[in-house]
This record gives sequence, C-alpha cells and structure tokens, in this order.
Amino acid sequence: MLVEKNVPLQPYNTFRIVAKAQTMVRIADEADVLAVLADPAYGAEPKFVLGGGSNIVLTGDVKPVVLKVEVKGRRLVGETAKAFIVEAGAGEVWHDFVAWTLEQGYPGLENMALIPGTVGASPVQNVGAYGVELQDRFESLDAIDLQTGKTFTLNAAQCAFGYRDSVFKHGGTVQRGVHQTMGLKDRALILRVRFALPKAWKPVLGYADIEKKMAEHACAAPTAQQIFDWVCAVRRAKLPDPAVIGNVGSFFKNPTVTPEQCADIIARDPKVVHYHLADGAIKLAAGWLIDSCGWKGKSVGQAGVYEKQALVLVNRGAGTDGNGATGGEVMTLAKAIQTSVYERFGIVLEPEPVVV
Ligand code: EPU
Repeated sequence: MLVEKNVPLQPYNTFRIVAKAQTMVRIADEADVLAVLADPAYGAEPKFVLGGGSNIVLTGDVKPVVLKVEVKGRRLVGETAKAFIVEAGAGEVWHDFVAWTLEQGYPGLENMALIPGTVGASPVQNVGAYGVELQDRFESLDAIDLQTGKTFTLNAAQCAFGYRDSVFKHGGTVQRGVHQTMGLKDRALILRVRFALPKAWKPVLGYADIEKKMAEHACAAPTAQQIFDWVCAVRRAKLPDPAVIGNVGSFFKNPTVTPEQCADIIARDPKVVHYHLADGAIKLAAGWLIDSCGWKGKSVGQAGVYEKQALVLVNRGAGTDGNGATGGEVMTLAKAIQTSVYERFGIVLEPEPVVV
C-alpha cells in the first residue's frame, strides 16, 4: 500500500482550491481498501472518499485519510429483454464513459454529456441534465463498507435517490444502539456502477435549449449522437469548462415551493422562471433568483459569480501557481447570495456541493 503525505489537492478538485491531504491512498480495487482498513496506523482513522472532486468545496487541509478512487474498467455485463446492462469503474471519467456508451451502440446517457466528475460520484448526487437524471438509467452499484470491509450491492430503491440527493449524502442516525435512518455518508466507497440502457431508445426532448437546437437544425427526430453534440454545445456556451475556470457546476439546488408561495412571488416578480412538477409542487430556477438580485459577475476575493449563469460560482484566480479563491471566500460569497435571495424572495437556497 502506497501512502502519500501532504498531497496538494488543487489538481483533484474542479474548483481548483488550494488545500492538502495530510494522508492519501489511491484505490484501484477492493484489495486497496482492505489494505487501508487492516493498516495499524490508518485502519481506524476517519476517511474521506474523493472521486473527481467535482462536487466539493475544500475549506482547509483534509485531515481524514483521503481515499482517491481510481477504479477503472467499462464493459457490457448483461442484457434483459428491455435493456443493455453496462458497468463502469467508479474512477472512470463520466463524460468519457457517456461517449464510450454511444460509440458501443448503447444510447441513453447522452443528455448527461459533459457533466464533470467521475462515474462513482454520479449516484452520490444523482446527477442530471436536460430532462434525464442518473436514477432513470441506474441499475445497481457495488460499494465497500469502510467500517467492516464488506462489499455490498445496492439497487435504485436502496440508493434513495432524490433531486441531487441519495443515501450517500446523509449520515445514518442511531438511537440507543438501534439504526433509525439509513445513511452511508463517509461510510461507503462506491466501486462500480451499472446502468440499464434502453434497447427501445427514444430521445428525451422537451427542454428549451434542446428544442432550440432541433429548430435550428430543422430536425424533428434527433439521434442520440445529435443530442450528445447539442448538449455539449449548449453546456460549452453557458457553463464554464472546469479545465479552464475552476467551478463545481450549479452551486445551489433549484428550490421547490408550494403553488401559494409561487403565486406570492409571481405577484411581486411576474417574470420568475418556474416549472410545475408532477406532484403539484413548483420548482423555481435558482439561477434566475440569484441573477435578479444582481449577482452576475460579482466577486468576494477570487470567488465569483459566473457572468453567463448566476447559479455557477467560479474561481477567478485558479492557476497552477497555488493562487486562487479559498474555500472561505467561496462560502462567504455563497452566504451573501443566500442572504440576499432570502431577503427578497423568502427562499432559502440549499448548496449542492459538499463542504469539506
Ligand atoms: N436563468 C437566468 N439567469 C441566470 C441563470 C439562469 O435567468 O443567471 C434562467 C434561465 O434563463 C432559464 C432558467 O433560469 O430560464 C434555468 O436555467 P438553466 O436552463 O441554465 O438550468 P438551471 O436550472 O440553472 C439545471 C441544473 C443543471 C443542468 C441544467 C440543464 C440544477 C441545480 N442545475 O440548471 O445542472 O445542467 O438544469 O438541465 O438542477 C449541475 O447540477 O451542476 C448542473 C449544471
């Protein structure tokens, strides 16, 4: 087992925040996890699982033992009457995996092209874009318990997926020795994820940005490859490329409100962007709320609000020279945004990334 000490984490988080891991071990398979657990110095220490670093804000050096997931591999593992079952190692780059599934003739993930991060991180926050969420294509995953070293498999129901949410974002609660709620935060390391990609593929359309592309190309029945290309073009036009400008995608979740709350906001701000959900609730566009409070282009230190999408916070100074926004600056900016949105709309914005 190779233990690395004082490892700079700037290359391993897409915000490009400067911080160090006091201790880091690279995980290529189950055996590497078992070696850490059996180690007299590190076995019982707290652990932190690091995937592609695309959904974390580092606010200081990381003291728990960092397990950097580098499990590789992608293959067809089976098929049912309705779907191809395709598996990928948690350390595979998400976008490369999506591109590979299309090349292999297994469409279904194209709406989620270019989402930053790794395959293993994708179920943690149930990633989604342009009308498709990970849970719509999920079959099962293998994970390893960081306390017992046992490998286990979870299906979709066991992952408790919600909007940008899953069992992996919550800690379990125990009262008088009895588990009250299930939670796997800091407890499980995802090794492999399996997807069920539909044999009777149909394009998922209906999103304004995709409809616009269809009109531009006078195309009523796009192929999966066309949707993939359009999603890439739309994202490149309005979202910053983490390889160039540090960011973690949307910084806040889109809040859900009751029809009464929404009517109240519409009475004051008729232009508020909102979507009706199947259960009667209404989702508001957090980007619009932040934008209308005048935040686009504003900064705190080197942390800023992206000029083309107010829902995305960016690192304006991130270079390879150790400069750039601190996690403290990012969180100060985030809190100031939350306060102004709350004062104007009475809505509490919930951050999407995990603050470390
Ligand atoms: N808007 C503004 N001003 C802004 C930003 C947005 O007025 O500064 C308006 C837009 O004009 C649009 C609406 O708000 O009418 C929604 O914007 P957009 O279509 O860009 O989508 P979003 O709701 O901001 C969500 C996801 C994205 C995903 C897109 C497309 C969340 C938190 N974000 O963004 O996911 O790519 O929809 O499906 O749900 C991510 O999670 O990191 C992410 C990028």
